[in-house]
Amino acid sequence: ASLEMYVDVLPQMPKVLGYSLKYGRPAPAHLTIGMYQKKWKFHRDLPATNVFAFGTSAESATFPGPTVEALQGVPLWVTWENHLPDRHILPWDPTVPTAIPRAGGVPTVVHLHGGVHPPRSDGHANAWFTAGFRERGPTWATPTYAYPNAQSPGVLWYHDHALGLTRANLLAGLLGAYVIRNPAVEAPLGLPCGDAFDRVLVLADRSFYADGSIYMNCTGVNPRVHPQWQPEYFGQAVTVNGKAWPFLPVARRLYRFRIINASNARYFNLSLSNGLPFHVVGSDTSYLPRPAAVTHLLVAVAEAFDVVVDFSESPTPEAELVNTAPYPYPDGDAPNHLSGKVMKFVVEPATVWDDRSRVPARLLEYVKVAEEEAAQRRYIVMYEYEDEATGSPTHLYINGKRLEDPATETPRAGTTEVWEVINLTQDNHPLHLHLATFQAVRAQGLVGLEEFKRCMERLNNATRCDVGLHAVGEEAAVPEHERTWKNVVKIAPGFMTTVVVKFLMVETGRTYPFDATAEPGYVYHCHILDHEDNAMIRPLKLIR
Ligand code: C2O
Ligand code: CU
Repeated sequence: ASLEMYVDVLPQMPKVLGYSLKYGRPAPAHLTIGMYQKKWKFHRDLPATNVFAFGTSAESATFPGPTVEALQGVPLWVTWENHLPDRHILPWDPTVPTAIPRAGGVPTVVHLHGGVHPPRSDGHANAWFTAGFRERGPTWATPTYAYPNAQSPGVLWYHDHALGLTRANLLAGLLGAYVIRNPAVEAPLGLPCGDAFDRVLVLADRSFYADGSIYMNCTGVNPRVHPQWQPEYFGQAVTVNGKAWPFLPVARRLYRFRIINASNARYFNLSLSNGLPFHVVGSDTSYLPRPAAVTHLLVAVAEAFDVVVDFSESPTPEAELVNTAPYPYPDGDAPNHLSGKVMKFVVEPATVWDDRSRVPARLLEYVKVAEEEAAQRRYIVMYEYEDEATGSPTHLYINGKRLEDPATETPRAGTTEVWEVINLTQDNHPLHLHLATFQAVRAQGLVGLEEFKRCMERLNNATRCDVGLHAVGEEAAVPEHERTWKNVVKIAPGFMTTVVVKFLMVETGRTYPFDATAEPGYVYHCHILDHEDNAMIRPLKLIR
């Protein structure tokens, strides 16, 4: 049976302030945010669901967690506490490289996605801990993380990052939004503001059993190798801020939506059923230099877009937010009548005359892309491995290596690099680097792909496999609304995507205000969580 759509109103997640006020002026703060098992209502007609949720207390914990409101230039400390029970609510596979505590419990560790912060505060996959810090992974260093918030205002999110468990822990609910603001810089832009008109939309697909519990497969695509692991989790229900297909009444005026795709594997190609455009003003943690209007917005897993919609122009009293992205993207099935719908906006009839907000002609700018400044050019190759007998995937790697293998990406702090990212699989992969921001400048089609693949499988060296002779296919342009400093870049199959990476503060062009070369370093990975867990993840170790 399926659930009726648009019966629950879109929730506003609770807010926690990531700063304090001293004599009326913002000052650093220290928060404690815990992870709790609790019941969550995903839909009016669905029994309450067991979830793992973030909150400042068990009672206030939500799915997604509270939105942390930080200020640029005001540091925040967060002690992340694990109050989870001994057993996971979802199945997980101990045959993928994973955290396995001796005494039971659910290993977790929190990463602030898009955050520019020291390595010890990064939520390294092996820095996991169980309830009460009873057991700790090999790179665990501190219960309290420091977030300098020195970076540009923008939208970030926090989520679990435990080794081999990320897909199950996020599916269970360990995720939440984090917004950095700078009123002095942002107010003059005149974008819609205030809780009612500047809203975070956290998208996540889930399937449910009739009793309300979250469905996750417990048998694998390749049971001989991995008894539980599947290459992608896709749910049939689309939740926004923890409700399945909610609705939002809107006034005839401008709204700002900070859209975060927190799904495990599903891409969304969003559009509004009444044709209204999205005015994209930012993506991930950065603004665009100027707004770009699009009617379709392709949002990869873990990607964020900051958009303005002008409902005063709505030709209809209602607008559905629909999704047309095939799953897996781009070669999978088209979404059906369920996963093809996201939420609905119900537009109030009267026009609002006092809306002073606008989409300004210019937004914010950062340091230039400057490919020619690159100190290094690296080849990053994405592979899928298949079981010879069945042809089904067994695991995915980057450059044929595992997380445990020594770091090969060792950029110098303060420099720019070019990464040529080669996708030899069928799927689009959302590449995510911790700490650094980066942008795609072009994507070149690969010709003679089969031959190139065979050579790469043998030599694992793009130069020796004559990458220059293969990367001569059609060139794909990077859309204007993705031309800013991002932390997730879509890597198309059969292409070599040229990515300029800045290992420095893109706001100032200077190096980080902390030691980014310290232990345990950072990671980079594919953000399809089922790929990341098995095991498209590699160390990223900065050097001085
Ligand atoms: Cu959003 Cu390494 O993660
Ligand atoms: Cu992937």
